[in-house]
Amino acid sequence: MTLARLAHALETGALDLPDAARIVLLEPNPDADLSVLPSGNVLVQQNFKPDHDVFDASGVPVTTAAEGPADVVHVTLPRSRELGRGLIAQAEQIAPGGIVIVDGAKTDGIDAMLKFVRTRVDIDGQMSKAHGKIFWFAAAKAFDDCQLPEPAPVADGWITQPGVFSSDGPDAGSMALVPVLPKSLKGRGADLGGGWGYLSRHLLDLPKVTHVDVVEADRRALACAERNLSGDRVTLHWADATTWGTAGSLDWVVMNPPFHTSRTPDASLGQAFIRSAARLLKPKGSLIMVANRHLPYETTLAGSFVHVQELDGDSRFKILQADQPRTPDKAGRAKRR
Ligand SMILES: C[S@@+](CC[C@H](N)C(=O)[O-])C[C@H]1O[C@@H](n2cnc3c(N)ncnc32)[C@H](O)[C@@H]1O
Repeated sequence: MTLARLAHALETGALDLPDAARIVLLEPNPDADLSVLPSGNVLVQQNFKPDHDVFDASGVPVTTAAEGPADVVHVTLPRSRELGRGLIAQAEQIAPGGIVIVDGAKTDGIDAMLKFVRTRVDIDGQMSKAHGKIFWFAAAKAFDDCQLPEPAPVADGWITQPGVFSSDGPDAGSMALVPVLPKSLKGRGADLGGGWGYLSRHLLDLPKVTHVDVVEADRRALACAERNLSGDRVTLHWADATTWGTAGSLDWVVMNPPFHTSRTPDASLGQAFIRSAARLLKPKGSLIMVANRHLPYETTLAGSFVHVQELDGDSRFKILQADQPRTPDKAGRAKRR
């Protein structure tokens, strides 16, 4: 999503923004084309680290918690209804008397959100384009009861929050991995894409594990992990796991890697996690991971590690161990260390 719907609304004249408007974009996609906006006075809020870094690298002011005042706030609708409502409440707080624009895909629930917003305020305009919708209204403090979600207890005392991965409780794949974690796992290692800390808490229970680095891109998930994990054997990193850390520094990596970019299944992300694990591990280090059975990780594993074996599995999940990471040569090809 490149802000195509916003560009369309502006080009057709359906929506008019003042020339020198202070504009805040809440959680835009990293490919957002900001040149469609009328002024250079733009602030981006982005809590997903790789996307945050894209805006930062292109010189756009970017934060994790935007504050006002602003004249216009554009909300990119997330999948989570509670987070979406919270962002709309935040938009109203940032731009009192200004314009709130809500922009999203049908698959992310834009129609249901429009229906909800309409029960509280008058909609000033709306347009459909690119399998989604954009609508706007004058900020009226009508959503003060829909604050941004905060970390809170769910099942079995875990702390999660709406909008993070597996927010209702532990993920089935991660639950399948825990009983298979080798008791012999020792030294320092990382939980790549550690989410709200389910795997890390079990890793900390292993007696020979000296330290767990939780590497997670979603700052909201990490805020929950901070509540689920305690002690001086754990460090939380708001970072992109595909580039984080020091090569050859870890004894083990455990992960349930992401397999979606937004709503689109994307095996390349998990494959990048595998290559990153190989880069991070010491020559005698091991990767242990869980994945949905159908995901094509074997070729990447064989290219990144000398030994790969399936520890356990069923028709849904496979739990894999990979040993002896290969070192990439100058041409980027992996060779045995
Ligand atoms: C399948 S979930 C597993 C979460 C957690 N380990 C668990 O077991 O519940 C994958 C996690 O990776 C995170 N993630 C996605 N891309 C990432 C990246 N580039 N760097 C770090 N974390 C990422 C997601 O936010 C999500 O929390």
